[in-house]
Amino acid sequence: MGRLIVVSNRVPVPDRNGNPPAGGLAVAVHAALQSDGGIWMGWSGETTEGEPGPPTVRQEGNISYVLSDLSQTDVDEYYNGFANRVLWPIFHLRLDLAEYARREMAGYFRVNRLFAERLVPMIQPDDVIWVHDYHLIPLADELRKRGVTNRIGFFLHIPWPPADIMFAMPIYDTILRSLASYDLIGFQTDYDLENFIGCLRREGCGDQIRGPDGGDIAVGNNTGAGSWIRACGRDFAAAAFPIGIDTARFASLAARVTARGQVRDMRRSLEGRALIIGVDRLDYSKGIAQRIDAYERFLQNNPDDRERVTMLQVAPKSRSDVPEYRAMQDAIATQCGQVNGRHGTINWVPIRYVNRSLSRAILAGLYREARVGLVTPLRDGMNLVAKEFVAAQDPEDPGVLVLSRFAGAARELAGGAVFCNPYDTDQTASAIAQALSMPLAERQERWQRMMGRLLDYDITHWCRDFMTALRQGTDRA
Ligand code: ADP
Ligand code: F6P
Repeated sequence: MGRLIVVSNRVPVPDRNGNPPAGGLAVAVHAALQSDGGIWMGWSGETTEGEPGPPTVRQEGNISYVLSDLSQTDVDEYYNGFANRVLWPIFHLRLDLAEYARREMAGYFRVNRLFAERLVPMIQPDDVIWVHDYHLIPLADELRKRGVTNRIGFFLHIPWPPADIMFAMPIYDTILRSLASYDLIGFQTDYDLENFIGCLRREGCGDQIRGPDGGDIAVGNNTGAGSWIRACGRDFAAAAFPIGIDTARFASLAARVTARGQVRDMRRSLEGRALIIGVDRLDYSKGIAQRIDAYERFLQNNPDDRERVTMLQVAPKSRSDVPEYRAMQDAIATQCGQVNGRHGTINWVPIRYVNRSLSRAILAGLYREARVGLVTPLRDGMNLVAKEFVAAQDPEDPGVLVLSRFAGAARELAGGAVFCNPYDTDQTASAIAQALSMPLAERQERWQRMMGRLLDYDITHWCRDFMTALRQGTDRA
């Protein structure tokens, strides 16, 4: 079997002892790379004043990490610019926040060309290439132009928008058509797959689109089954592969840390109050402002519950060079301060706001302490926090997940989570009240349903399914 080559914007480089970072994706993909040997290539995270030099290569066992520095102009145009000011807002349905600039678009394609040029000399005939996320959509096209015929797969970690939104993006057709250069395209949910196929159809470039049974495409709960597509002169497959977490490992981490220092101190500091937790990168797609509004509405509607609950919002800074993200930092801090000013007492702070990253162990312990997990994105490809919250619960006394119906995870966690529409402040406030007052038997029953799914379809399963489909290729087309 050929090697695996993974390409992503960020590369989870192992520590000095060769251990990959603790995130589920990093662990699972490292395991796949380690078994067949391979390369993980991407941006080093470093910027240079002038033109970047050659990539650095670090060998760890079977795996070579190939890391490219980028110039400040590259980062501004490719990462802060087109990826995070055009693709990210548009794919999250925020046309109002998209700032399109031709120069940045050119920078996006330039960095994709740079990655392709660096990759081509390393590719061997049997290698399989797996590209991740919206930063690198045109990469396969650039590789094909340079004569690469290997199987290339792409997984989109964020949502794919409906045609009406997608088509508002200048050069949407170049982005859409460039995807036909892949052999397999993976989406988080079948809604994303359906939107993608809708775009191909509306664009008139889906010459032939068939479902897994050979009939017209079936969009249902067809995880991993997929569609076979002939478009833009190529055959390729597209399917939903909802990403999982390292469920069993995360659950055991959460169980281990509850008695430890910081988690134990936090529990004591609650003085018996029920903890409501939110954990997100500081990103407008996460619905943090709407969530705080809903929590305030809950306090207003349920005066007896005041001083009996505490909300902890953990939200590390993210993409701070992008103006919309910078603006959010002040806005959320101000909002938390206002709620605390309006409702706090000399003995009680309604919201604790932590504006930084925490270790995975502490996060796991905090999830387990919480009676309610508030995961209320306005739009999210999957949302791993929702899955981590569930995995971290104590089976004897589990907390309740309040989940936005607009998170990709909503498909898998239906029947367990209490759903909310984050745009509806009253409804989200009622969902918080329902979660807080839910009887133990119902909490256990809901949790078991969710946990069963998360154990069955964990990150290793996800990685294996995608790799199997990619290695099989389009033989069935
Ligand atoms: P996104 O990929 O958009 O950031 P996800 O919810 O899918 O959203 O994944 C976020 C990941 O980042 C999760 O694994 C979560 O545990 C981690 N994370 C989020 N906030 C923090 C934080 N404050 N400290 C450490 N890790 C965090
Ligand atoms: O999950 C979407 C995603 O954009 C990942 O590709 C990325 O690693 C993560 O969110 C965090 O974003 P960033 O790499 O821009 O900090």
